[in-house]
Amino acid sequence: MFGFKSMVSKFAFWSVVLLILSGVTLYKATWNNQNASTQPFTHWRGEYRDIAAALAPDATVRQAALDTNTGEVQQVTVLEFPLLKIDGTSQQRVDRCQSCHAGLLDPNMTAEKIIKFRDKVSIPTEQVGAYLSDPKHAETLEAVKTLGAHPGIRVESAENAHDLGVIHGDKFTYGVVTEASVTEQDKADYQYQKVNLKQHPFPTFGCTTCHYGTGRELIQDSAHGTPETSLTPMLAARYMEAACAQCHAQYDQKTFSISYQQPLSPERIIKVLDGQDVTPDQTASYLEKHPLTAATVEYVANKPLMQSLTKGQQLFKSQACYGCHKIEGFAKGNVGPELTYEGRVAGSTATISHQLWDPRYKVASCVMPYFFAVRERNTDLPPNGVIGSPKALTAIVDPRADPKNPSHITKAPVAEEGTVEYNEEIAATLKQHGYIPDAARQGDVDALVTFIASQTGQNYASSQSSRLTSLAAYNISRPGDVPVTVAQGKALFEASGCYSCHYIGDPNKSHVTGDPKFGKGGIAGPELSWEGTRHSQKWIVEHYKNPQAFVPGSIMPIFPFSDSQRAALSAYDTSLRPAKAGAKIVSPDQDLPKGYKDQ
Ligand code: HEC
Ligand code: HEC
Ligand code: HEC
Ligand code: HEC
Ligand code: HEC
Repeated sequence: MFGFKSMVSKFAFWSVVLLILSGVTLYKATWNNQNASTQPFTHWRGEYRDIAAALAPDATVRQAALDTNTGEVQQVTVLEFPLLKIDGTSQQRVDRCQSCHAGLLDPNMTAEKIIKFRDKVSIPTEQVGAYLSDPKHAETLEAVKTLGAHPGIRVESAENAHDLGVIHGDKFTYGVVTEASVTEQDKADYQYQKVNLKQHPFPTFGCTTCHYGTGRELIQDSAHGTPETSLTPMLAARYMEAACAQCHAQYDQKTFSISYQQPLSPERIIKVLDGQDVTPDQTASYLEKHPLTAATVEYVANKPLMQSLTKGQQLFKSQACYGCHKIEGFAKGNVGPELTYEGRVAGSTATISHQLWDPRYKVASCVMPYFFAVRERNTDLPPNGVIGSPKALTAIVDPRADPKNPSHITKAPVAEEGTVEYNEEIAATLKQHGYIPDAARQGDVDALVTFIASQTGQNYASSQSSRLTSLAAYNISRPGDVPVTVAQGKALFEASGCYSCHYIGDPNKSHVTGDPKFGKGGIAGPELSWEGTRHSQKWIVEHYKNPQAFVPGSIMPIFPFSDSQRAALSAYDTSLRPAKAGAKIVSPDQDLPKGYKDQ
C-alpha cells in the first residue's frame, strides 16, 4: 500500500495535468478512487495488538495488549458539548476515532519504538523527523500517525515517571510523539499538550471537539472527511485554534472585542498538573522538588496562547474586512456575505482560504480585493483567462510598479507546493485571474482563516442568554465622538483598515504608488498622498457616507463612523498635499456636484 501523503503529492501532480486535459469531473473521480485504498479499523486494532504486545515492558501489559478485541468499536459519548449542525440544531456527539487510533493513551507507542518494531532499526530522536519524512518510510509514518501516543502524554509509572517529547517533520504537520523533543519549539509544544491532555481528558472531550472530523464514522476518509463529502472534515493542524475558540472565546461587552485563553501562571500550572495549591512565594521551592512540573512551567508559564486567533481578529479590522462583512456582535459590514456562521459549514477552511487567495474564484465580478496576491502580467495569457501552458508564465509584474521602471518590485515568490491548502486548485484559478499568491502573506491568510472558521454563532464557554445580551448591546452601539484634529484623523485612518486599500507616500517626492520604499498601503483604492489637492473636506465627508453616490460601482465600504470621526478623517486626508507654496486647495463649491444635498 502507498503512504497517504506520497499519494497526495503524486496525485497533486497528475491532477494538475488532468485538470488541464479533462476538467474538474475527472479530478473528483480520481480523488474518490484514491479513497478506496484505506484500511478498516479492525486492521489498525490488529496492528496495535501486535506492536503493543511486542513493546510491553512486562507480562501483565503484554497480556492486556494481546487481549485487544480487534473487532470492538471504541466510542466516547460526549455529553457536555453537543455537535452543532449547519441548520442550528444540535446532535449528541459520538466519537469513534479511537477504534483506529488505539495507541493514543499508551506511552510505549513512541515513534522510535514503532520504527524499531516495524523496520528493525534504531533511529535516534533527532533523526525521527527526517526518517519519517522519507517517502521510503511512508507506511511506517502512517502507522506512527495512526497508532502513536497522543502529543502531551507522559510516562506515569511511579518509579520511572518522565516526560516524552514531540517532533514535527516535513511530511507531517501534526507532531508525533517521540522519546524527547529536540527543538525549543517542539519542547514548548509538548509541554502545552501536557497541560491540554490534563484539562481535556478524552472521556469527557472526545476528539472532534478539537479536531473536528465526523466522529461516528469508522472509515478513515469519512471520519477525516474530504472536500467532496458533506461530512465535516478534520481541521488542518494550522487552523486548529478555530476549534479551541469554541470554548475559549470571551466577548467583551464594552469594546466588542474577543479575547482568548489567557497565559497560565506558574501557580495555575502546578494546580492543573499536580492538583496542589501553592502561593507565588512557595512556587520556586515547590518546583525544585518537582522537576517534571518545572519543565512545563519553563516552557508554558506566562507565554501568550491562541496567537493565530488573536492575529486573525486584528487582521479582520486592519484589512478592512469588517467594512464589508458582518459578524454578529463584532462587525457590521454589509457589502459581502455575513460570516457569523461561516465556521459551521463543512470544509469551510478550504473555501475560506480559497476565497482569500482568489476572491474571484467563485463569482468573477466579486469586488473583494486581492489583498494577498500579486498581479501577474502574462502576455501569453489569452484575454478570456483560459489557463495556458505552465511555461507561458513569464513576467510577474505588479500594477503598482511604474511601467517604465518595474525593476524595483521584487517578484513575489509563488507559494511553495503544500503551503497552500488545495494548492493546485488555488494556483490554477489565481493564474486564470492573472494573480500570484504572495507567499509572504501565508501566515496572515492562515490566521484569518482560523479566525473566520472559529465563527459558528455559538460559544460553549458562555450561556446563550449572555451571548444575546452581548449581541443586543452591540446592535445598538454607536461609534464614539472624537476631537476633530489631524492627529486624531491619522490615528483613525491607521486603526480602520484604510491602508489595506489606499497607499500614502511622500507628496514632496516623486515616487511609485505601492512601493514600500516610498510609503505604505495597498492599491485596491486610489493613492491618497495628494488628497488635499484633489478634494475638499466637505466632499470627503459626504463620500464616506456613501461612496457609491459619488463614484458609481465604488468598492469602498460604508464604514460605521460618527460625524466627528468623519470630520477628523477628512481633516487628515486634506492635510495630505505637497509642502510647496501654491499647492491647490479645493473648495466645496468647485468640488461637490451642483445641487448636492447632505445625506
Ligand atoms: C478507519 C480508521 C481511522 C478512523 C476511524 C480515524 N482515523 Fe485518523 N488516521 C487514520 C490513519 C490511517 C491515519 C494516517 C494517515 C496518513 O498516513 O496520513 C490517521 C491520521 C490522523 C491524524 C494525523 C493527520 C496528519 O496528517 O498528521 C489525525 C489528527 C487523526 N487521524 C484524527 C482522527 C480523528 C479526530 C478521528 C475521528 C473523527 C479519526 N482520526 C478517525 C485512521 C483513522
Ligand atoms: C484539547 C484538544 C484535543 C483533543 C480533545 C484531542 N486532540 Fe488530538 N491533537 C490536538 C493537538 C493540538 C494536536 C497537535 C499537537 C502537535 O502538533 O504537537 C493533536 C494531535 C493529534 C494527532 C497527531 C499526532 C499523532 O498521535 O500522531 C492525532 C492522531 C490525534 N491528535 C488524534 C486524536 C484523537 C483520536 C482524539 C480523541 C481521542 C484527540 N486527538 C483528542 C488536540 C486535541
Ligand atoms: C469543547 C470545549 C473546549 C475545547 C474545544 C478546548 N478547550 Fe481548553 N479547556 C476547556 C475547559 C472546560 C477547560 C478547563 C477550564 C478550567 O478548569 O478552568 C480548558 C482548559 C484549557 C487550558 C488550561 C487553562 C486553565 O487555567 O486550566 C488550556 C491552556 C486550554 N484549555 C487550551 C486549549 C487549546 C489550545 C484548545 C484547542 C486545541 C482547547 N483548549 C480546546 C474547554 C475546551
Ligand atoms: C470591498 C468589500 C470586501 C472586502 C473589503 C472584503 N470582502 Fe470578503 N467578500 C466580499 C464579497 C462581495 C464577497 C462575495 C463573493 C462571492 O460572491 O463569492 C466576499 C466573500 C468572502 C468570503 C466567502 C463567503 C462565503 O460564504 O462565500 C469570505 C470568507 C470573505 N469574503 C472574507 C473576507 C476577509 C477575511 C476579508 C478581509 C481580508 C474580506 N473578505 C474583505 C466583499 C469584501
Ligand atoms: C476595500 C477597499 C477600500 C477600503 C478598505 C477603503 N477604501 Fe477608500 N476608496 C476605495 C476606492 C476603490 C476608491 C475610489 C472610488 C471612490 O471614490 O469611491 C476610494 C476612494 C477614497 C477616497 C477618495 C479618493 C479620491 O480622491 O477620489 C478617500 C478620501 C478614501 N477612499 C478614504 C478612505 C478611508 C479614510 C478609508 C478607511 C476608513 C478607506 N478609504 C477605506 C477603496 C477602499
